[in-house]
Amino acid sequence: MSLAARRRLLDVMDGKTLSPPPVWLMRQAGRYLPEYRATRAEAGSFLDLCYNPALATEVTLQPIRRYGFDAAILFSDILVIPDALSRHVRFEEGHGPRLDPIDVAGIAALDPEGVMAHLAPVLETVARIRSALPPETALLGFCGAPWTVATYMIAGQGTPDQAPARLFAYREPEAFARLLALLADISADYLVAQIDAGADAVQIFDSWAGVLGPEEFSAFAIEPVRRMIASVRARRPQAKIIAFAKGAGLLLKDYRRLTRADVVGLDWTVPLDFARELQEEGAVQGNLDPMRVVAGGQALDEGVDRILEALGSGPLIFNLGHGITPQADPAHVTRLVERVRGGRNA
Ligand code: CP3
Repeated sequence: MSLAARRRLLDVMDGKTLSPPPVWLMRQAGRYLPEYRATRAEAGSFLDLCYNPALATEVTLQPIRRYGFDAAILFSDILVIPDALSRHVRFEEGHGPRLDPIDVAGIAALDPEGVMAHLAPVLETVARIRSALPPETALLGFCGAPWTVATYMIAGQGTPDQAPARLFAYREPEAFARLLALLADISADYLVAQIDAGADAVQIFDSWAGVLGPEEFSAFAIEPVRRMIASVRARRPQAKIIAFAKGAGLLLKDYRRLTRADVVGLDWTVPLDFARELQEEGAVQGNLDPMRVVAGGQALDEGVDRILEALGSGPLIFNLGHGITPQADPAHVTRLVERVRGGRNA
């Protein structure tokens, strides 16, 4: 790769400190952008959009064109895996995702055969995005962590506290362990396929890690992700991996050490002095409260400045602490990117 085409995000993943830090936002392709809403309307259902390589490529590129982020993230969803496992995933307007809730018999009947064929359009999307992206823009693939995907499979929908999955894990430990192991193995194959199709790095989203007690965090969040990362690296030793365990707090030190992720993602509740300690062992990504992007103005500027001051002298990928929300003003994102890139007096 020529010097000009250096992908800055990958340098940070190797532990380098860059000033200004590379920046991208979780859910950067989404409903806050009018151009996304237009393509989404053209696609039909949300899953139709995920499985349409031309349109999924288009929405992936939209925020890159507008903001010039340092990374694009594949447009898809963590629930394509349960969809590929025939759990009948659908997204109902105003309700979020719905799936057929799984039970012990359903887990015993899960069949990984055919999953990769079902996901072929997503892999084609990865290849198309890579060839359309500017050479200096990194491409991130992703999947859900087994725990977070399992919470949706068990409840059949999103819930505020994942009580159905926590209860199932206590009542049916063997079936639950089988579900996590199966999701870990399929997800590892899926990440390897994304890397082979052109992803420069991958992110594992454990959005519901924060509802777990410490023992359960070890068994349900750390262990399956450790298994996935080991499986990916056994086949692709150079694979670069970001792991985002939302709500993990103090457990993030163990999480990084035991999963061996290159980068840990931080939500906005992680104190910045603790984030600095984490940075001593490798890069961190985060962690602006998405509500500061909605608020804009001084709340946005102060939040950006605080992160840059605390974490800018170590390996940092600037991001939000969770996905950008539909009510964010696209102009506030312009301001965020300018500020991260040194436009403090702008
Ligand atoms: O970050 C990106 O721009 C890439 C695309 C992406 C989506 N979902 C698109 C999406 C990514 C990385 C995800 C991950 C995802 N999906 C997670 C983990 C990250 C997180 O936010 O916690 C989870 C838990 C899901 C499951 C999911 N998908 C839910 C709960 C919902 C409904 C809530 C909502 O925001 O509407 C979705 C739908 C979804 N996934 C949308 C988008 C753009 C909105 C659907 C639409 O456009 O109609």
